[in-house]
Amino acid sequence: MSEPLIRTIGLTKIYGSGETAIRALDDVNLVVNDGEFISIMGPSGCGKSTLLNMLGALDQPTTGEVWVAGQSLAKLKNVDDFRAQTVGFVFQLHNLLPTLSALENIEVPMQGRVANPRARRERAQHLLELVGLQDRAGHLPNQLSGGQRQRVAVGRALANSPKLVLADEPTGSLDSQSGDEILQLLDKLNQVEGTTIAVVTHDPHVAQITQRVLRMQDGRIVEDHRVNNPLEEDLRMLAFSKLGEVILDPDDEPLAEISPEEEVILRKLIQRLRTNGTGN
Ligand SMILES: Nc1ncnc2c1ncn2[C@@H]1O[C@H](COP(=O)(O)OP(=O)(O)OP(=O)(O)O)[C@@H](O)[C@H]1O
Ligand SMILES: [Mg+2]
Repeated sequence: MSEPLIRTIGLTKIYGSGETAIRALDDVNLVVNDGEFISIMGPSGCGKSTLLNMLGALDQPTTGEVWVAGQSLAKLKNVDDFRAQTVGFVFQLHNLLPTLSALENIEVPMQGRVANPRARRERAQHLLELVGLQDRAGHLPNQLSGGQRQRVAVGRALANSPKLVLADEPTGSLDSQSGDEILQLLDKLNQVEGTTIAVVTHDPHVAQITQRVLRMQDGRIVEDHRVNNPLEEDLRMLAFSKLGEVILDPDDEPLAEISPEEEVILRKLIQRLRTNGTGN
């Protein structure tokens, strides 16, 4: 069997020390194969971003190891090279440079790596096309919509053809249509280019598009499953929702109300059951 793209061994991250220490990651052992598209879910503060940052060598573990593309991140000779060449990052807030155009923003990671300016420009143009913004090349970030900015950020993440794309709530600040476009883009990237993608999300709909869902809690991976069929996914979302928790807990007060997110899950589930459990 070939070496997985990502392997973490006993990965632990503790912030602070003494009484106030926070175990943001607690003995995470994760294997992700080349070409997988995974999502990472879990409540706020459970360690999702911390995990992503460790995978991208943006931060260092307290103990444990991270291996990406055959390299131990603790032993990297040049961390900047690793970040620029092996991984591409997409964050919730896109961090585009405000004074550079869409095209120039995509070129930034290639500087110092692709020597020929014309080659940089051609690659950036190709990526701008890939994200569907060829007609916005000269626009500054503040002349683009939120969804378009995020698409530029995806283009920028792909500048150096990374093996791994790490996306931290890439659709978090977008309306649902723009969010869908970003997702479709990531999905296409995974299918067509075979890029391995890890996306952190709070949105069950996002998770369903990926092939594998990890669920974290208190710094640990508490669930790791392959996405089989939509109905099963809906049931899982329900099981892990606050509503699911409340229903399971015999000491809890009777339900007074359900949250809007839970209502969405329930509505989808009921619709799916009514259409014979096979709808998409
Ligand atoms: N630089 C830091 N210093 C101290 N504590 C931190 C630091 N970064 C994160 N933490 C803590 O580590 C825990 C995990 O944080 P992390 O950002 O990974 O959560 P998350 O799952 O991404 O949450 P969210 O969904 O809100 O983004 C949290 O309890 C957080 O308060
Ligand atoms: Mg986070």
